[in-house]
Amino acid sequence: MAGTKTLTIIKPGAVRNEYVGPILAKINANGFHIAALKLIRLTKEQAERFYSVHREKHFFRSLINFMTSGQVVVAILEKENAVAEYRKLMGATDPLKAEKGTIRKLFAENIERNAVHGSDSDENAEIECNFFFARSERFSNFDT
Ligand code: CMP
Repeated sequence: MAGTKTLTIIKPGAVRNEYVGPILAKINANGFHIAALKLIRLTKEQAERFYSVHREKHFFRSLINFMTSGQVVVAILEKENAVAEYRKLMGATDPLKAEKGTIRKLFAENIERNAVHGSDSDENAEIECNFFFARSERFSNFDT
């Protein structure tokens, strides 16, 4: 059965442009419950650990510099089939390829500065939610 949570990061470009409110509004309007939320600044070590699967990619250094360039908003989003549903709402990684009305189409600058991150599997959602949030910081509509 598909999972009910996903982790999103509203990236520094979108925070700088004051898109936090509009992005969260879109998330709510699409039926997600915000189960955890905070505004933080990633350290270089945190950003490198979070994106460690991309360590060998040509864009890794630039991605880490960008992700540590300002505050980010991290949140746990809940909905049935959350990972797939949120990936649909985000749109393609490259905003040029993202569908009309998606978060990346509306708010991204380019493929790197692409406004938001979302987990790509239930397994990674679990890892990524644990990366940022303690149990005491979560207010789930699903867990009993
Ligand atoms: P995200 O969903 O956070 O996961 C990895 C990130 O790497 C991705 O969004 C983009 O910000 C970035 N990324 C992926 N592909 C490229 C690319 N070809 N060039 C630059 N950045 C990229």
